[in-house]
Parts: sequence; C-alpha cells; structure tokens
Amino acid sequence: MQENLILAIDTSCDDTAAAVTASSVVLSNVIASQTDLHRAYGGVFPTVAKQAHRENITRVVELALRRAGVTPSELAAVAVTQGPGLAPALEVGIGFAKTFAAEHELPLIAINHIEAHILSPLAQPKSRHGSTLSLFKQVVDINFPVVSVVVSGGHTQFVVFDEIGRYELVGQTLDDAAGECLDKIGRMLNLGYPAGPVIEKFAAHGNPKRFEFPLPLTQAKDFNLSFSGLKTFARNLIRDLGGPESLARQDLYDLCACVQYSVFRHISYKLSKLLQEVPAGEVWLGGGVAANTELRKTLRTTIADHTKTAHKNGQANIPKIRFRAPYSKRLTMDNAAMIAVVAGFKLRRGEFVKDTTELDRKPRWEVA
Ligand code: KG4
Ligand code: ZN
Repeated sequence: MQENLILAIDTSCDDTAAAVTASSVVLSNVIASQTDLHRAYGGVFPTVAKQAHRENITRVVELALRRAGVTPSELAAVAVTQGPGLAPALEVGIGFAKTFAAEHELPLIAINHIEAHILSPLAQPKSRHGSTLSLFKQVVDINFPVVSVVVSGGHTQFVVFDEIGRYELVGQTLDDAAGECLDKIGRMLNLGYPAGPVIEKFAAHGNPKRFEFPLPLTQAKDFNLSFSGLKTFARNLIRDLGGPESLARQDLYDLCACVQYSVFRHISYKLSKLLQEVPAGEVWLGGGVAANTELRKTLRTTIADHTKTAHKNGQANIPKIRFRAPYSKRLTMDNAAMIAVVAGFKLRRGEFVKDTTELDRKPRWEVA
C-alpha cells in the first residue's frame, strides 16, 4: 500500500469516469463519454445513462488502474461521487465503489461533485522530472480567500473560501446554468448536443457586437445570476432573422459570438462586483464551460481591470490576484481526477465513510 494513491469514480451524469492520483498528481484520468448515446434525446436521459454506466464501469476502472500502473493492493483509498447528480447514475458508481472497497479492504471516501469542480485547478500533471508539489506545499501557496467560479451544465455559482473544505456560497444562478443556456440556444440553432463547444468554434468567426443582448440583474446588489432572459432574447432574435434554417453562415457565426459574449459578460459583471466586496487573493475557474478559452480570457481581463481600478482609486498596495484554471480540458468536463483531488484532502484528514453499507446518493447535495 502506498499512502497517497487514490482510485476515484464519478458517475454523476452522463460520463463514466475513473482516475488514479498520488496526492493531487494525476496518474490516469479515464472518461467514457455517452455523448453519442444522448445526442438522440438532445440532453441526458437518466435511465439510458444508468445502463451505459453499468456497461462501462468495470472496464473504465480497470483502464484507469492499468494506465496509472497501479494495482488495487497499492491503493490507500477509493473515492466516489455521492452527489449532486442524477440519482440512477450516481447509484452505479456508489454501488461499484462499495463492492470494490470491500473486496480490497480499502477505506471509502464520499465526495461532493461541485467541491471537485472547485478544487480542479489544484490537479497537477505527472511531471517527467517528478518535481510536483505536495498537497501541503500547494495549500501553503494559496492566497486565501479564494473566489471560485464554477460554470457547468448544471451549476453556475460563486463560492468563497478561506480553507479547503469550508465553502460559502455567495451567488448562483436563479434559473438555468450557463452551460445549460448555451446548450438550449444551441438547440434552437440546431447545433446538436452539447452545443457549448460548437458555439465557441463558431463564435471565433463572428462579431460579438452585432446584436445587443441585455446585461441581466444589474439592479440587484447581490451576486446571483440569471440566464433565462438571454435565452428568450436569443429565441426572439432567431425568429426575427427568419428561423434557424434560413440563417446565412455569417449570421449564425455572429449569433454564436453574441450569445457567448453576453453569457460571459454577465458572469464577468457579477465577478467584478464580488471582487469589490471580497479581498480575494485568487480566482479559480472550474466546470465544463471552463474549457472555453474566451471565458478564461474574459475572467483574466475582469481581474486585471479590477486591479487597475483599485490602483486608480489610490489603493496602490492591493496584492495581485492570481487566476487558476484546470491544466487540461479533461479536468474541466466531468471527470474522476478532480474527485480524487478532493479525496486527497479527506484522506489526510481521515474523513472516511463510517459504515459503507449505509452510503447513499445525495442527488441534490449543496456544497455550502
Ligand atoms: O461540468 P460538465 O461537463 O457537466 C456538468 O456537470 O454539467 O459541463 C457540461 C457543460 C455543457 O453545457 C457544455 O455545453 C459546456 O459544459 N461546455 C462548453 C464548452 N465545453 C463544454 N461551453 C462552452 N465552451 C466550451 N468549449
Ligand atoms: Zn460537473
């Protein structure tokens, strides 16, 4: 047994994922995507997801162990997503993890999927020279408080924390998540599912200023978000342009650029308000939409503008805010390496599931 090797499993939504880490170093990160299965439904269909998880999970776990070059006897613990997510999908991962833990006499660690997106920027690649940071050194390096921005297909929220494991939810979407909004508008444009990556590709050829989308919730003093108005605006615009079939190529590109711009501008606007209230040392980005290069650029600009404004207002000494995002796209989408990163902290704190037979899914588990 090696003291820090963790096998983690995530079956919270439509991807069957397993990974092995040593502390926060990713040794393997296997994801069996069900995207093609669900495309026919234009979204995720829970019972179909459950069946596919059942078919994939053994193979995915074996592959994760093989790619990491690790045998079950070398593991220190097994971690599994307990929630939030689709109940039938979560059930498969939890059931597998319980059996695996019992069979190999390993402790079991239950993980919140959103905490994993929050901490995903801490995952480190396997270095050829072995010069990766220990978890302890990584934590010492963090300039708290951290403002985490989680932007996925199911969640869009701002979380503030002063220590790993204790989170304060300071703002969240009141309706659709940002990724969900992109997916729904993409559906109106017949872009397939999920539409986020296609919108990013098309947006690169479009003019983000051609159509003036609204900026939501500017009157509200809080840090909540709302994307349903942008969705309605897009629906009307597409109708006014004659419907999706009659759009010229450039119209489609411009629409995608404007949709993406307005969704990210809304997040950026609320983040800049939040930075005026919280003396953040770092801003972290996680979640499926964090794969988007334009979103990363927008947040970096938001942080830089915040610092510039503070300097202009005479706060010459405010420290530079550090921006962190996951080192690879495979860590932004649903994956198990991020689950293992959280488990690394819980392993050090000895936070194991006491009675594994009792462990049940928590489909609506809030992180804070
Ligand atoms: O975190 P995730 O894999 O699943 C959830 O837990 O929701 O996020 C999936 C979401 C989808 O809405 C998808 O359209 C979006 O992330 N997404 C993107 C990009 N890649 C994935 N959105 C914008 N640009 C991308 N490159
Ligand atoms: Zn997710």
